[in-house]
Amino acid sequence: MSTGIGYGKIILFGEHFVVHGLPAIALGLSNKAVVEIKKSKEVRYTTTAVGTIPELTTSAITLLMKAMKIKDNFHVHLSGDLPTVGGLGSSAAFCVALARAFDKEYKMNLNDDEINKYAYEGEKAFHGNPSGVDNTVATYGGAIKFTKGKDFEKIRIGCPMHFVVGMSGISSPTVKMVGQVKLFKENEPEEFSDLCDEALDILKKGEEAVAGGNLKLIGELMNENQELLKAIGVSIEKNEQIIKIALENGALGAKVTGGGGGGCCLILAREEKHAREIMDKLNKNKFGSFTTVVQSTS
Ligand code: MEV
Repeated sequence: MSTGIGYGKIILFGEHFVVHGLPAIALGLSNKAVVEIKKSKEVRYTTTAVGTIPELTTSAITLLMKAMKIKDNFHVHLSGDLPTVGGLGSSAAFCVALARAFDKEYKMNLNDDEINKYAYEGEKAFHGNPSGVDNTVATYGGAIKFTKGKDFEKIRIGCPMHFVVGMSGISSPTVKMVGQVKLFKENEPEEFSDLCDEALDILKKGEEAVAGGNLKLIGELMNENQELLKAIGVSIEKNEQIIKIALENGALGAKVTGGGGGGCCLILAREEKHAREIMDKLNKNKFGSFTTVVQSTS
């Protein structure tokens, strides 16, 4: 028997556009997926988590085992404290945790780059055409600027950022949302290209604002990013409700985070107490939520 862990993530700027070659800024969460593997007669998946899709997860296990050239069969069990509600990188965290468990089981001594590479193969079952941002944060943690097919960069965080994650209670498979955006791009190429220009502009200003600790500007840019996510059709009614509650309660900015179509929203609060107040308001409105702080580790 062996275990492995992988961390969740939030995307501050650039989800979906990252699939089409633009950079994204993603931040690691301390919530994690824990995977335990035991040899078994056949490949089997169980979990204590609510909302995972067993067929997709079993496909991911098969893809990852093929990539790692594992011939034995295993019972794979997922637990941990990372909500599997969509938007928090739980599929990538699962794949990283699984790759780490196999690494231990067979004493492969893999480094993080290799773990990340194998996790990406598993992610294909969940995302179809993953950019790789989720598995990269799940492997390395921290705050990163990620561009598909390029080396990622660790970015500077100028001051602590107190976030609330609001859960819509609706989970749409990322593969479906990514497919929907691809169709939008095919049907509206000029509009999509203009949106990409705006997304790039937001990202550049956003990276500077994060490095300089300019919370007000980070919030404004999150709101601008949300307009782009609305335009490409990944923000649904429940997301809008969460964002409205957050902004009405003084949030500096709020947006969908991750694949959207429900899933989670990311809300920037002024400070810790304010984050808890927004969380309480969301909870009163029957939206599950939690607070998290992202700060420099150096
Ligand atoms: C999902 O967390 C992020 C997306 O951009 C998909 C991807 O990057 O693979 C929607």
